[in-house]
Amino acid sequence: MPTVAALRPYEPGKPIEELQRELGIGDPVKLASNENPLGPSPKAVAAMRAALGEVNRYPDGACWAVCQKIAARHGVAPDRIFMAGGSVEVLNLLAFLFIRPGLNAVFSEHSFAIYALATAAAGGQSKTVPMQDGFYFDLDAMANAIDANTRIVFLDNPTNPAGTIVKRAAWERFLARVPEHVVIVADEAYFEFVRDGDYPDSLEYHDPRRMIVTMRTFSKIFGLAGVRVGYAVARPDLVQLLHKVRQPFNVTSLAQAAVLAGLDDDAHVRATLENNAAGIEYLEGEFKRLGLAYVPSHANFILTEVGDGQAVFDRLLKLGVIVRPMGAYGWPHHVRISVGLPAENRKLVAALENV
Ligand SMILES: Cc1ncc(COP(=O)(O)O)c(C=O)c1O
Repeated sequence: MPTVAALRPYEPGKPIEELQRELGIGDPVKLASNENPLGPSPKAVAAMRAALGEVNRYPDGACWAVCQKIAARHGVAPDRIFMAGGSVEVLNLLAFLFIRPGLNAVFSEHSFAIYALATAAAGGQSKTVPMQDGFYFDLDAMANAIDANTRIVFLDNPTNPAGTIVKRAAWERFLARVPEHVVIVADEAYFEFVRDGDYPDSLEYHDPRRMIVTMRTFSKIFGLAGVRVGYAVARPDLVQLLHKVRQPFNVTSLAQAAVLAGLDDDAHVRATLENNAAGIEYLEGEFKRLGLAYVPSHANFILTEVGDGQAVFDRLLKLGVIVRPMGAYGWPHHVRISVGLPAENRKLVAALENV
């Protein structure tokens, strides 16, 4: 398919091991992939250790216990939960199900890179809409962009990499305008970090006439990015469609064990939120002191204007700090910096001062 041949593969944050290999840097700090700097939930780690002796068995393909637990947590029926190997898998499956050549997906410019990749991989067209005031979704323009061939609207809230949110009034106005044949993907990977009282929880807006897919992940607040697990909450008929096209065992037994234990690890979640709030406050303060413009963040990363983003990224690498250059997201003058541990944040600030 020509749309696939023209694709550039997703570029992840630079792995720590790669920097060690290439530059021989002993102890780099990685603030490039919005991971949990505290590490995984200790309860999840213990549960995975205990499950290791059973990895000769295939996992439960239906993720029965995990679906029960997540459903109870959200107060919904278990047949509305779809488990996946990371929320990216849900995005790809939705595009595979709903997008074809001649059909399109609508999303904002500068939003999560996988939306364009998944749409193009399915042979469809991406209809992107400019942001307003530089870094904020323009939901009215997104609603205007929906046409008879639109099948999906992707909305990351908070959005990555800007870190801004859509607020309740704009979201409700938008929902009222999206036709019923369009799947609304509310990608809430950073949901737990948001402290703004005006932030809408898309789960509260599910109704049988609408196709809302709420996506959450264990990669961020729960610190389980490496085991690859996330989920969608949707209408049972949509969940059934997703089951038809997923791999038979898309969530590993270790991931399932990790989720069952990690979901109860309130202490780890609390510590993560405290570290993040303090880290955002510290970094924003330091960026102000250094005269660097940044976008006030609702998530666990900050988009920061540094001049030549690629050059600053390269120079920070040599000082043992990995951030994410934003050229691929259409912001060549910015880098995205994930919140680290206090010492990691201080190392980043010292390195930034240096470059
Ligand atoms: C907006 C958004 N959605 C989804 C994901 C992917 O999460 P997962 O690790 O669950 O595939 C990310 C990860 O960075 C993200 O920023």
